[in-house]
Amino acid sequence: MAATPDSVPAAKKGGFRVWLNKRLPVDEFVESQLTGYYAPKNFNIWYFFGALSLMVFVLQIVSGIFLTMHYKPSEAEAFNSVEYIMREVEWGWLIRYMHSTGASFFFIVIYLHMFRAMMYGSYRGPRELLWIFGMVIYLALMAEAFMGYVLPWGNMSYWGAQVIVNLFGTIPVIGPGLVEWIRGDYGIADSTLNRFFALHVIAVPFAIALLIALHLVALRQTGSNNPDGIEIKAKIGADGKPIDGIPFHPYYTVKDLVGVGVFLLFFCGVIFFVPTFGGLFLEKPNFEPANALSTPAHIAPVWYFTAYYAMLRAVPDQQMGALLMLCSLVVFFFLPWLDRSPVKSIRYKGILSKIFLTLFVISFIGLSYLGLMPAEPIYVVFTRIFTVLYFAFFLLMPWYTSVEKCKPAPERVTYHA
Ligand code: HEM
Repeated sequence: MAATPDSVPAAKKGGFRVWLNKRLPVDEFVESQLTGYYAPKNFNIWYFFGALSLMVFVLQIVSGIFLTMHYKPSEAEAFNSVEYIMREVEWGWLIRYMHSTGASFFFIVIYLHMFRAMMYGSYRGPRELLWIFGMVIYLALMAEAFMGYVLPWGNMSYWGAQVIVNLFGTIPVIGPGLVEWIRGDYGIADSTLNRFFALHVIAVPFAIALLIALHLVALRQTGSNNPDGIEIKAKIGADGKPIDGIPFHPYYTVKDLVGVGVFLLFFCGVIFFVPTFGGLFLEKPNFEPANALSTPAHIAPVWYFTAYYAMLRAVPDQQMGALLMLCSLVVFFFLPWLDRSPVKSIRYKGILSKIFLTLFVISFIGLSYLGLMPAEPIYVVFTRIFTVLYFAFFLLMPWYTSVEKCKPAPERVTYHA
């Protein structure tokens, strides 16, 4: 006998999915954000790095949680607890190497992600806020990496912290007091390690997660840019969807999975075969415990900071050096307003934009290398040349983007299957 509709339990009428959707808009979310969200059909491999950044962030959180279970944030125990993780904890070495390699890979994917935005003019209107959120994420990531590096309490952790925290001392008037406040002591000490631990595992990751959410909401609002730097929303088809767009799912979810596979090959290769990466990802002096009486022969931060460290040392006056370093980061925020070109993508910009972008890349890589070297006179000369080229890219941009001859951007995105 057929049951009357009212006598049938709600779950049976449409199954679990209907039951769930009445309580949580899962289908609506998938439709608005994945299957019904149209992204430009001409994304190339440069568009892998946003999804990869997100994946590395999750990897860092997960490996970090497991490290925290065994790590001891005190001056007396920190170094030994990391050694304990490496030698005694089951799979501890893997978790630690995932986290240390993850930090370097995070910066690799972020630098490629940022470079893509610089190539295709993704920072230009209407995506200025998206770019600004990205830059704030980058700064937060730098703070996160710096504090994480201090935690193993190796000798480079100690002396690196000494150098970086002392930079705040160059701020006029409040500097010396600020340095003491940051350290919580008269030197880098137990209290410094404790607070860096709290900030590294709770406060900064939480802030980064929030910023990533804002970054993605801002991205959905404007829609993605693409290698041609034209707006797909300008050409809408009869179905109300951009004619040069394709549903994010399944097309880009599947494509991103290929990127994830290739990324994991490199990532696992480093973890299993060269976890210290020749002293670049884990520096030699950090395998010795922190020692206030023994300065490493050559103090240098990890590779992802060395471009800025080189600029800091390019100027004899420490205060001016710190200011220059600050400017080298702040200037990125102004990029959307420095670029006056009639087109967004480097594909259609003139020769001057191409030259200056290439020089910027060369100078950033050059500075990163020089920051790892001792401050010998010949290196200092090159550092100064690269610093000038670095700033020229930004400061001359209003000029070269307005005088150069550009190719007209196409009406529709270019796509070759
Ligand atoms: C944890 C860090 C970050 C995560 C998880 C993240 C995530 C993403 C994702 C998923 C996308 C869309 C896919 C793609 O275009 O690749 C995206 C786009 C974008 N991101 Fe990020 N991002 C991060 C950091 C940054 C940083 C540091 C910047 C720049 C300073 C930045 C600038 C941009 C821009 C301009 C776009 C739009 C690109 C376009 O449409 O052409 N992001 N981001």
